[in-house]
Amino acid sequence: MVIISSCTVSTLKDSATSLRSGNLVAFPTETVYGLGVDATNKDAVAHLYQVKGRPSDHPLIVHISSMAKLDKWAREIPEYAIKLAHAFWPGPMTLILPRTNLAKDFITGNQDSIGIRVPSHPLASGLLKDFEGQGGLGVAAPSANRFGKVSPTTADAVFDELSGYLLPTDSILDGGPCEVGVESTIINCTQATPEILRPGAITANMISDLIGLQLNQIATGSNKFTIKAPGLLQSHYAPRAKVFLSTTPDLGDGFIALSDIPTPPGAIRLASPKNNKEYAQLLYQALRLADTKQLLNVIVIPPTGDDLAIAICDRLEKCSYKS
Ligand code: TXA
Ligand code: MG
Repeated sequence: MVIISSCTVSTLKDSATSLRSGNLVAFPTETVYGLGVDATNKDAVAHLYQVKGRPSDHPLIVHISSMAKLDKWAREIPEYAIKLAHAFWPGPMTLILPRTNLAKDFITGNQDSIGIRVPSHPLASGLLKDFEGQGGLGVAAPSANRFGKVSPTTADAVFDELSGYLLPTDSILDGGPCEVGVESTIINCTQATPEILRPGAITANMISDLIGLQLNQIATGSNKFTIKAPGLLQSHYAPRAKVFLSTTPDLGDGFIALSDIPTPPGAIRLASPKNNKEYAQLLYQALRLADTKQLLNVIVIPPTGDDLAIAICDRLEKCSYKS
């Protein structure tokens, strides 16, 4: 497996060719690093599930270069979904829509819907354009971590997670640290009104402002949802260290909080973000740092607000220790 650190026009083309040949290419997006695979190649997708250690009924998001390619993968697209796509693509948003025949069971985990995203990171965008230029139709890309673990936001983190599982023909594109730092907002668009299945940088407020619905008309509880939605598992987005929310650290425990909250005596500060945006950017790196330092516990003081704080709190809730 190779890490490609200075991506040029020609390395992007080669990476697209590599994807077309059935190899895995990890690449940066504005949210987190994804582990890319040709979404129409069954054998390559099977290899990806193996590398991730992910159950095969857990669906993948297909990444395309622009909205123009949407109807290849999705049908019965509601008016509000078109509005969302125009407003927030390219960007940190995934739409769940009824699938076309192109979206096979091996991508959707046997569901009749498909998750689609148009990422904005220039390397992701360039890779997808080249891939489509070579006849590709879409790149399925889960976050480039082992199943249930912390999503990587740097190429080094991808290497640490997956180098033991990738083949020599697979590769990692290094595009520096991800700008958003938490995964895309997932919106279920298979019903009359949208439903947020996973909060992210595109917030419920932004969605309701755009489509003229009251906030309480946008459901945000994935629990009542019957499809395999993210994070319904006991432990998700979790480091090896146990994560505790809003408790007092003991000597040698890790500590993550906004910069205006002082480090309690004896705790090891892992991140001091200045605001919620920076909190999202730094959170996963800080959780990984806890593992690098072999800490047993990390105490996190969650942020507040109706912006990215909602996504951060969602991930913290899911990765926190349940006795
Ligand atoms: O920001 C992101 O979305 C990143 C980057 C790489 O694009 N990708 C990502 O993929 O987070 P992944 O596979 O780690 O998480 C996607 C989640 C999964 O938990 C999956 O259950 C859910 O999206 N998902 C995918 N397709 C779905 C579908 N048809 N219905 C419901 N949930 C779906
Ligand atoms: Mg993931």
